Amino acid sequence: MSVLLTGGTGYIGSHVAAALIAAGGEAVLADNFSNSGRDVPERIARITGRKPKTYDADICDASALERIFAENDLSAVIHLAGFKAVAESVAKPLAYYRNNLDGLLTLLETMRRYDCHCIAFSSSATVYGTSNPSPITEEAPTGGCTNPYGWSKYMAERILMDAAKADPDLSVILLRYFNPVGAHPSGLIGERPSGTPNNLMPCVTEAALGKRERLSIYGADYPTPDGTGIRDYIHVMDLAEGHLAALDYGAKRRGVEIFNLGRGEGVSVLQLVETFQRVNGVKAPYVIEPRRAGDVAVCYADAGKAERTLHWTAKRTLEEMCRDAWNWERQCAGG
Ligand code: UFG
Repeated sequence: MSVLLTGGTGYIGSHVAAALIAAGGEAVLADNFSNSGRDVPERIARITGRKPKTYDADICDASALERIFAENDLSAVIHLAGFKAVAESVAKPLAYYRNNLDGLLTLLETMRRYDCHCIAFSSSATVYGTSNPSPITEEAPTGGCTNPYGWSKYMAERILMDAAKADPDLSVILLRYFNPVGAHPSGLIGERPSGTPNNLMPCVTEAALGKRERLSIYGADYPTPDGTGIRDYIHVMDLAEGHLAALDYGAKRRGVEIFNLGRGEGVSVLQLVETFQRVNGVKAPYVIEPRRAGDVAVCYADAGKAERTLHWTAKRTLEEMCRDAWNWERQCAGG
């Protein structure tokens, strides 16, 4: 039996694939390579010794999905495919809703036809909106998203919850990611954002490499100890292992279960930048700019439910996240 990873060559998907194969599992990847490299399966092979079967497929394409399910004995799906750039989603809301929701619907319909009853979904802490105090538990109210990307995750969660209500055989695990950063320690896979990155860590590595003149720190006047925003950064390999724990759990039950995937620890922008500089012995020049629209001061997880239920916790430190992010960026730049 194999596990289908939609978006399997993307940033999170490639790390989940590497973790799954390293743990002895069979991964089948589906990706349209809209935001990933075609060499990723080969790179996963260099890490794990096994190249995952990979389909060049858009999950909105029902016939392509049909073929994947017909050709493989799939016991579960980890659904990671989707558009994820917050600012782009504001400019192109229809493209975001079409891709992120149509893809999910096509996937669920195909799963049902092939008696595949277990799905773990790549959701986001963005579904908690901006008014929940941290630490945020899975019981916190959702909604109040600030952009179409966030709403597409919120709506996808609703679709999955309704699907599970109507189909007692379906097992749905909603994984709400906090801030994944870092890369595989081999430096062979990592985040390769197409276009200009917006997330903090890729901007820090670019500033350190000189690809950008300096990092803009959006706001130093938040009500936090050093004035900069606080987030819950989690090493992407910890996040990947969280998926495996969730899949094991989901395979043994039915219904919907929600897990935060974070470390449960708040780190400020300045703390991250200073740790990055110290660990890697490089300067990441920065300038303080005004706050970015839509940002909250503090957002971190209560990670207790995943620990209690999945027996999983994020183990890698901020130092490891910074080291591995820099290692990856240097490999990409050929440095
Ligand atoms: N930041 C900077 N400079 C930058 C980029 C970010 O100072 O160049 C700051 C932000 O203001 C924020 C922190 O770094 O305080 C983290 O910002 P990110 O863009 O890396 O992450 P966000 O927490 O804003 O967004 C993340 C995911 C989104 C998701 C959101 C809410 O990237 O996909 O969490 O869960 F929607």
